[in-house]
Parts: sequence; structure tokens; C-alpha cells
Amino acid sequence: MTASIYFQPRRLGHANLWVENLSRSQSFYNSVCGLTVEFWEPDLIASFLGTGNTPHDLGMIETTGGKARYGRNGLLQIPEGVGAEVGLGHLAWELENEAELVDAYRRARKDKVPLDMTVDHQVAHSVYLYDPDGNSMEYYCDTVKDWRTILHGEMELITSAWDPDAPDGKEPSSDPLYDEHPEIRTVDDAPVHPRRVTHAVLVTQNLEQLVKFYTSVGGLTEVARGAGVAYLRGRLSHYSYHLVICEKQDSEGRGYHHVSFELESVDAVDASEKALESRDIPIELRVDNATKRSFYLRDPDGFLSEYYYRRTAEQPDLSDDPPRMRPFLV
Ligand SMILES: [Fe+2]
Repeated sequence: MTASIYFQPRRLGHANLWVENLSRSQSFYNSVCGLTVEFWEPDLIASFLGTGNTPHDLGMIETTGGKARYGRNGLLQIPEGVGAEVGLGHLAWELENEAELVDAYRRARKDKVPLDMTVDHQVAHSVYLYDPDGNSMEYYCDTVKDWRTILHGEMELITSAWDPDAPDGKEPSSDPLYDEHPEIRTVDDAPVHPRRVTHAVLVTQNLEQLVKFYTSVGGLTEVARGAGVAYLRGRLSHYSYHLVICEKQDSEGRGYHHVSFELESVDAVDASEKALESRDIPIELRVDNATKRSFYLRDPDGFLSEYYYRRTAEQPDLSDDPPRMRPFLV
């Protein structure tokens, strides 16, 4: 029997991280990684940065110490115990429109797929749920095309309740509200100038279980398979892929490995590395092979991010590489 498909994303919209010190992380991703700070929420202790490709490529929330945090109108946004530690907050997946999001939500609920919560983010509606490894996933649709008119600079609490069964008494919209021609912003003074977030890499001890989840509930298509690695993509086929899942046999490192940002060219990767070196900013790892030219940075909490240019659409053959290196080489 074929597993049912529920959410069918176009692409990865953003990653969201739990960070120990918000201003320290915001400063790193802005002044080093070149992401513009689009808007921030002092009450939630959260910041949202990006290139303009989506309303944000990277969100970050300061760890909670285990205490609950509330959104707009008293919404319990972060329940007690959630976000106590540094780690992945969630990966967020952009859907075509609200009608598809609501339809997926209703079918998932009817089939008793465990769902976490549904919320209104003022520029998006979202459904959250967990993958079989406990990684949190957000499936969202934009509800406003020109999101910068709503979210910019310092914001009061943004998020409130959303009931997909009663969207303001009207049927959910089937209009696509993502921006097809976004204005891409760069941080001139930063050594790195990313164009967009493209994919995330997860590691797991159970590759088949995770692939099954992301190709059924998560609606991605498996586009390639290598040694202990599965490459999955949303509907937008001009991206190579949006999620890579790497199998690890040891117990360490299960979950989020990194998120990857595309640069303009191989020359842009070279220039970024030189600029980082001239500022004594350490580069965690460089990759220069037939598939891609890239480097990794490690943020103040230890999270990795990759900045790359892809030389070919082909996936690399990793069968001769040690499994611990595979998440870096995909
Ligand atoms: Fe999010």
C-alpha cells in the first residue's frame, strides 16, 4: 500500500534555531554570514534574518530555561520544557497556498497523524508536527505577498491562534502569496553574501523511516539515493534538493546537522573565504570537489552552516568517504 501524501511543499522556507544568547547569534549571522536582520520580537526573545528570498531564511529564539512563553492574545506559543536547550527549533516548508495547507491539515487529522499546533504568524499560517526522530517541522503558506509591509524592525508579539477549520468564516484562499521575484538583500560589510537558503541536512539512525515520513507526510520526492544518503526535493525542480538525510550508525549526532546557503559563483565562495581569513574568522571545513565548492562556519552555539556553489546537478558518490564526512559532502 502506498503511504498517503499530506503536505506538499514547494521548498524549504527557513530553519529556526534555539540559541543560548540571541544578540550574540544575531550578530554572528548578520555581520559574518551576511543575513539581513528583517524583524525581531523582544518579548519572544527571537530574531528573524534572511536574504529576502522568503520572509526569513533563518529564525532564532533564545532558550527558555524550560519556562513557557506566550504569543499574542495569550497563545501558549512555547510550552513549558520546550526550548530549554540549544538545538533545532524547526525546519519550515513553504506550501503553494492556504487551500493546500488546510486540505493537508484536515486529511492528516482525519487519519490521526500526530499534529503539534496550528498558528497565525500574521504573514503566514502554519501547522507544526514532529518527524519520527523528534525534529519539529513547520508547514506554512504565506498569507500576505508583501510581508515587509507587516513585519519589519522591532515587533510586538507576532504569533496568535489559527483555527484551520474556521478561516475567518471563508474558504481558504487558493492564491499563491509567495513572492516569485523577491528583492534579494545583502549585508555589504559582511564577508559572505548568501543568495538564499536551499536545503538542510539531517542525520538519523533510521534512514528508511525518515525517508518514508518525508515522502508521505512531508510530501517531498526522493530524487537520488547514495551510500547511506537520501536526497529529497519539494515541487520546485530548479533546486537540486531541499532536504538531505544521512544515515549514522553511531548514537551521536542524531538530528539537525546544518543548513546550506547558496552563493553566486565559485568566485564568490573563494572571495568569501579570503574575506573571512582576513578577519581571522575560522572556517570549519572547506569542500572543493567535482560536485561543489563550499565552506562551513560554526556559530557561537556550535551550529554549522554551509555556503556553497554547486558545480553540477549530479549527486556526489560518497561510497568511499567515511560516513561521518558524508553530511558535509552532500
Ligand atoms: Fe518558522
